[in-house]
Amino acid sequence: MKVSVIGAGSVGATCANVIAKKDIAHNVVLLDIKENYAEGKALDIWESSAVNYYDTRVTGVTNDYTKTANSNVVVITSGLPRHPGMTRADLISTNARIVKSVTESVIEHSPDAIIIVVSNPLDVMTYTAYLTAKKPSTKVFGMAGVLDTARFRAFIATELDCSPKDIQAILLGGHGDQMVPLPRYTTVAGIPLTELMDKEKICELVERTKKGGGEIVNLLGTSGWYAPGSSAAQMVEAILKHQRRIFSVCTMLDGEYGMNNIALGVPVKLGQNGIEEIIELDLNEDEMILLKESADYVRSVMDELDKMKLF
Ligand code: 2OP
Repeated sequence: MKVSVIGAGSVGATCANVIAKKDIAHNVVLLDIKENYAEGKALDIWESSAVNYYDTRVTGVTNDYTKTANSNVVVITSGLPRHPGMTRADLISTNARIVKSVTESVIEHSPDAIIIVVSNPLDVMTYTAYLTAKKPSTKVFGMAGVLDTARFRAFIATELDCSPKDIQAILLGGHGDQMVPLPRYTTVAGIPLTELMDKEKICELVERTKKGGGEIVNLLGTSGWYAPGSSAAQMVEAILKHQRRIFSVCTMLDGEYGMNNIALGVPVKLGQNGIEEIIELDLNEDEMILLKESADYVRSVMDELDKMKLF
């Protein structure tokens, strides 16, 4: 199994490192446009193989897509990260061009690869890659829900002083401040969250989750990488091992949740074919309103993409 990670910045390098540590691929290729950058990061990662105890060969290349040829999975992390005061949508004019050109190069050398988009603004960059790749939407999708639910689970674990491993959660919508965490579907070792926490505290953690990316940006001056990179690696694992795990993933909707022609986060089953199935939850009225608001925001960013006339 071969995985390529495009973009050797902090998210890409973390993703490559976590995939290598999981020992689930024969090769991981890290690619960056900056001369020797991916080579350096990949060498550093590979030098940890003996202590981290894995066999995955990690190599780095400068913009040479021939080295990514025949990848089973490609993770696209290329593009600018946001800085304080910016929304993810502010990145669109730069990142849409980058994601389009990267996807073209990826597809040229790995036409059968499953593509996971991590670049922001996530939902519209997933749409960009989908339009560029001209592949079924089951093979081109975006990472955000795994990260957003991971944040929600971490905050719940801190609050309840329990293990994040025991927390199950699902979340819908765009990867933005309008995302829709679903407390009704959140459990701690099978116990509904609502039995363990009062409504006000749940609302507080939901709000913190929605702005979780921004909280890191405000602390660091740039966006995070450990949780985003690890979340993308978890999706790669589900695909390579055909785990059929259920994650919230950004995918093109074709009538699901009453929506069409939009990339949005919904629960899916992830396996060797990519998205094996989209799961439609029976949402209540309030949840549906929130999902529509989130979709409206994503559509407003899609309009910005349309104005760029890249397609
Ligand atoms: C985040 O939420 C980078 O969008 C990513 O941290």
